[in-house]
Amino acid sequence: MSVAKVDDNRKVTTRRLMEMKQRGEKISMLTAYDYSMAKLIDQAGMDVILVGDSASNVMAGNVTTLPITLDQMIYHGKSVVKAVQRALVVVDLPFGTYQGNSKEALASAIRVMKETHADCIKLEGGLEVRESIERILCAGIPIMGHLGLTPQSINKFGTYSVRAREEAEAQKLIEDAHLLEEIGCFSLVLEKIPAALAARVASELAIPVIGIGAGGGVDGQVLVMHDMLGINQGFSPRFLRRYANLGDEITEAVQAYIRDVKSQDFPNEKEQY
Ligand code: KIV
Repeated sequence: MSVAKVDDNRKVTTRRLMEMKQRGEKISMLTAYDYSMAKLIDQAGMDVILVGDSASNVMAGNVTTLPITLDQMIYHGKSVVKAVQRALVVVDLPFGTYQGNSKEALASAIRVMKETHADCIKLEGGLEVRESIERILCAGIPIMGHLGLTPQSINKFGTYSVRAREEAEAQKLIEDAHLLEEIGCFSLVLEKIPAALAARVASELAIPVIGIGAGGGVDGQVLVMHDMLGINQGFSPRFLRRYANLGDEITEAVQAYIRDVKSQDFPNEKEQY
């Protein structure tokens, strides 16, 4: 398979994402949590790399995103930033590090920026976390918002099904999206909401709106790397397109290695000193 050619090797910035929206160029975004994968993803030409708190699920094996700590996110963020030359790197603020009060939120965001050297942070929620967002923005730290299915609130929702199908929830989401833009977020993720609602939000906002399970009417798409590469095989929602089946390939490669070790086929004469 040929690797996408990226003709523009300049570092992606928040400003460049805005320009991409203005000229109708779709934004590509994918998660990464470690140096080696981040390097491959960056070299392939990804616009935005998200060090998502989905690391809690796919790296640490937790059922939800809630247990991951700020120290763990910083560890993943540092590893990714070291590998990336072109993509904009976004690090998620984990659950419990920004909802309590705005000073704590600023302290968490400053730790992420100082210790990882990432370009910006992402956090979940609208009006409820307004004060935290404003304080972080005042310190010059760019914020990507996240509305719709916000996994850090899974215990309130009780389900990972599509959000904002009902009029009242859709209305609140629209208001929150406008609020995030007004107070200065540079972009917004919309997760698992009806495509028509997501398209409406993207058309009403000037900032780029990136969707996951939110249809094609938004300004870009984000997926979790382990899902789209077929490493996380137990997860197959309708919105997920699998671009590889690495889970099967890894299992086959590991089994071949075990066979070769047991049969003494590995190492052969050329593979020793
Ligand atoms: O943590 C994550 O991977 C995310 C994406 C699902 C947008 O927030």
